[in-house]
Amino acid sequence: MSADKPPVTARQILERCDVLAAESSSDTGIERVYLSPEHAAVNRLAADWMYEAGLSTWMDAAGNQRGRFEGRQPGLPALLLGSHLDTVPNAGRYDGILGVLLAIAVVDRLRADEVKLPFAVEVLAFGDEEGTRFGTALLGSRAVAGTWDPAWWDLHDKDGVTLREAFVEFGLDPDSVGDAASRSGDVIGYLEAHIEQGPYLEEADRSLAVVSSIAGARRFALTLTGEAGHAGGVPFHRRHDALAGASEVVLAVERLARTAGAIATVGRLQAFPGGVNVIAGRVEFSLDLRAETDILRDDVWQAIQDVIAEVCQRRGLICAIDETHNAPAVVAAPALKSVIADGIRATGDLSPMTLFSKAGHDAMAIADLTAWAMLFVRNGRGGISHHPDETVTVEDVAIALDAFEAAVLALAETYSHPTA
Ligand code: GLV
Ligand code: MN
Ligand code: MN
Repeated sequence: MSADKPPVTARQILERCDVLAAESSSDTGIERVYLSPEHAAVNRLAADWMYEAGLSTWMDAAGNQRGRFEGRQPGLPALLLGSHLDTVPNAGRYDGILGVLLAIAVVDRLRADEVKLPFAVEVLAFGDEEGTRFGTALLGSRAVAGTWDPAWWDLHDKDGVTLREAFVEFGLDPDSVGDAASRSGDVIGYLEAHIEQGPYLEEADRSLAVVSSIAGARRFALTLTGEAGHAGGVPFHRRHDALAGASEVVLAVERLARTAGAIATVGRLQAFPGGVNVIAGRVEFSLDLRAETDILRDDVWQAIQDVIAEVCQRRGLICAIDETHNAPAVVAAPALKSVIADGIRATGDLSPMTLFSKAGHDAMAIADLTAWAMLFVRNGRGGISHHPDETVTVEDVAIALDAFEAAVLALAETYSHPTA
C-alpha cells in the first residue's frame, strides 16, 4: 500500500463505525452475533480496511479477523492491538468496534509515515466478546489465548444450534480451532482501546484514561420451577409461584451486591407458560455478577445462593443453576500501563486518569497469553453503553488515535532501548 495515501482520520473512523452498524440481524437496532452472516460481513469490511492500512489479512480458525504489519524485518514478535466486532442485542455502535478501528488507524499512520518498528503489529478483530449468542463470553479472544474449552462445543443458541454446528456453517473446522491460538513467544503484549462505558471521564471532563484492572465476572442461567395453575382457582396458600419466587431473588441480588460493593444484574427473565391468567410454573432468568476482586464476587454469589435456597424452601420451588461464564479479575501490566499513560501525556494531558473497568473486555482473555493494558475513551451521555444512544465525539476519537499511536511508539522506544 502506497505511503502517499493519507491515513484515515477520526471522522473516517466514525464513518466506518456507521458502516459496521448497518450490518445487523435486527431491523430495529444493532445486533451482530458470533458466526452469523453479519459477522462474516464485518470481517470482510475490516479485512478491506486492514489491507488499505498495509496489513496482510486472514480470518483465523475461530472466525477472528486478523491483520499483520511487519516490523523492521519480517517475522518479529508482534504487539497485539485489538477489540471486538460482535454486539449485545440493541447495541450501540462503538463498544468494541471503536477499538478495532482505532487499531487499524494506528497502523495506517505507521504505513503512511513509513515507520518500521522493532516488533510487528497484529490487529485482531475478535468475533465474540459479548457472549450474546452462546452465553459464554470472550470466545474469540479465548481461542487466540489458547484457552478454548472443548466443553463449549455443545453450547447452543436460542434456536438450538450448537457452537460446533455454527462453526461448520460459518465455514470453519471445529477440529482446527487450536490453530487460532497465538504462541506466547510470538507476542510482546496486547493493547486495547475501548469506550469507557461509564460516567467517570465525562464527570472529570477528560477524554482518555488508563485502565488499572478489569472486574472478574461470572454469569449464570437460573431456572426456578414451581407449579402452574389457575390464576383464580388456586388459593395463595396452595401456590408454588415461580415468578413470585424469582422476584424475591431478583430484589435480593440487587440488595446483596449493593451492600457488599459488588455489581449484579438480572438482565433477562422469562415466565412460563406466560398466560395472564396462569400462575407461572417456571421462570428462567440470567445473573451477571462482577466485583473488583474474585473473593468479593464469590462471597456475594454464596449469599445469593443462600437466599435462593431459603426462597425455594419457603415457596416449594426447585432451582437449577448453570454457570455460563467465569472470567477472573485481571490487572494491567505496569510497563504497558505506563506506555498508555505516555501516549495520553503526548496529547497534552499530563496527569492521566486511571480507571478500574467494571465492564469486561477481550484483554481479560488475552491476559492468559501475554501482558496487557487498555486505553479508555470517553463516551458521552453519562457513559451510556449497551444501548443505541452510545456516543463519542470526533474530537475525543482524534485524541484517542493520537494517544494510541503515541503509546505504540513509546513502547517501541522502550523495546529498542530496554532499561537495565
Ligand atoms: C461486556 O461488554 C461486558 O462487560 O459484559
Ligand atoms: Mn459490551
Ligand atoms: Mn466491549
